[in-house]
Amino acid sequence: MIKDKIGIGSRLLEELIKKAEENSTLITLEVNTENLPAVNLYKKFGFKILGTRKKYYNNKFDAYIMTKFF
Ligand SMILES: CC(C)(COP(=O)(O)OP(=O)(O)OC[C@H]1O[C@@H](n2cnc3c(N)ncnc32)[C@H](O)[C@@H]1OP(=O)(O)O)[C@@H](O)C(=O)NCCC(=O)NCCS
Repeated sequence: MIKDKIGIGSRLLEELIKKAEENSTLITLEVNTENLPAVNLYKKFGFKILGTRKKYYNNKFDAYIMTKFF
């Protein structure tokens, strides 16, 4: 199936990346390791998993540290 719409997540992230590229050398964030839609979105836009923060959310769920370098 050909996807004819770009999702809002991609649009927002594209704009954020454009702004950040003008002013900085990287973007870094935390995301719940179980949040696959978000983890996949960030991977699609070139973010790499640089580490894990154990029990970061509610002392229960782990977080990936994901970073994109320009
Ligand atoms: C994560 C989120 C922002 C993605 O937004 P979206 O508009 O659905 O994403 P897009 O349609 O632009 O999709 C872009 C990519 O995200 C990933 N993705 C989106 N939905 C997905 C799903 N249900 N399962 C797996 N991957 C998914 C895919 O890699 C997708 O690329 P593809 O279409 O080429 O496969 C959205 O799911 C959301 O708002 N989630 C709740 C809030 C949240 O988790 N925010 C992030 C906190 S760190």
